[in-house]
Amino acid sequence: MSTSSDLLFSPFALGSLALPNRVVMAPLTRCRAGDGNVPTELNALYYEQRASAGFIVSEATQVSPQGVGYLRTPGIHTDVQVEGWRLVTGAVHRAGGRIFLQLWHVGRASHESFQPGRQAPVAPSALAIRNAHAHTPEGAQPYSTPRALETHEIPGIVAQFAEGARRAKAAGFDGVEIHGANGYLIDQFLRDGTNHRTDQYGGSIQNRSRFLLEIVEAVSGVFGADRVGLRVSPTAAYNDMSDSNPVELFGHVAAEVSARKLVYLHVVEPLAAGAQGAAARVTPVLRERFRGALIANGGYTLEAAEQALRAGEADLVSFGAPFLANPDLPERLARRAPLNPPDVATFYSEGPRGYTDYPRLGEAQRAVQLSA
Ligand SMILES: Cc1cc2nc3c(=O)[nH]c(=O)nc-3n(C[C@H](O)[C@H](O)[C@H](O)COP(=O)(O)O)c2cc1C
Repeated sequence: MSTSSDLLFSPFALGSLALPNRVVMAPLTRCRAGDGNVPTELNALYYEQRASAGFIVSEATQVSPQGVGYLRTPGIHTDVQVEGWRLVTGAVHRAGGRIFLQLWHVGRASHESFQPGRQAPVAPSALAIRNAHAHTPEGAQPYSTPRALETHEIPGIVAQFAEGARRAKAAGFDGVEIHGANGYLIDQFLRDGTNHRTDQYGGSIQNRSRFLLEIVEAVSGVFGADRVGLRVSPTAAYNDMSDSNPVELFGHVAAEVSARKLVYLHVVEPLAAGAQGAAARVTPVLRERFRGALIANGGYTLEAAEQALRAGEADLVSFGAPFLANPDLPERLARRAPLNPPDVATFYSEGPRGYTDYPRLGEAQRAVQLSA
């Protein structure tokens, strides 16, 4: 049973949105969109099953054909995709939930086989991901070396994000999360390991933040900053990322998006960061600089989440793998019930298996039978 001291299960006002609890569903790419990267009834069922979250952040969703880097990830740049997303938002809302769309452009984390006309993917600088492979229709391939965007092309990419927000609104989303994390295009501009530009979008921290802040302003112009969040991962190395001073860089970002009144900052920082011998945690610095809601993410358990809320390090906690495997995660956490373990083999596979067949409490045998 939840106890009255559990902050995780207390309501929270996220701007004008009333959340029944502080258990957020983290964005999770599942590679199960239909043809044309259009969301389907199966995707709607998956999200509907998880509608008891304080709110859901959708899987990363491309703002343009150029923003694609994976198979069967959904988009938000065609009318048919908007119709597909309407199935999802309608199902979540009917089940009493709330859902934001995560706006995404992968930048260099792509391969020419995903790109219109097999062109090179675009990035701040012509630096390829060296330590991983792209999963393309032709199998695993080295990532393509990207083409550095010309300065005059950048407003067009900002406009893709604004247009994605406009379509997300038309599709019935409650808000949008700008994907500034995990080594995708915005993060590639922010961090100096991937941004070697010499124009006004490169060099100083102010210049490297400019692309993000232009997107923040354009997207806020569509939804209102009260319905726009930002996700960052200051120290994540995924996608061959690095920065010489994440505390300074992301401290600046936090202050600037605070001044623009974004409703939340979603910080991916594994709990292990800050352990003895590791670099100091960045999240507390961001907490100081950002006045909106802070969502903590990265390996949280019930206990760790409660501790973070109690210590004032965060207002909300998001769960990725645990939510993927437990459609009724808030209830399970509140009742201290055991959690289904996530099945890594089906994270990015096809169909309902490992997607919509994880059992709720009291249904323990179903998934086992289905997967036998
Ligand atoms: C299968 C899978 C897909 C993911 N897809 C996304 C995504 O689309 N966008 C994103 O920002 N993070 C994505 N992540 C990262 C998660 O949102 C989260 O940061 C990570 O799983 C750590 O949280 P956890 O320990 O609660 O799982 C993904 C993680 C997993 C396991």
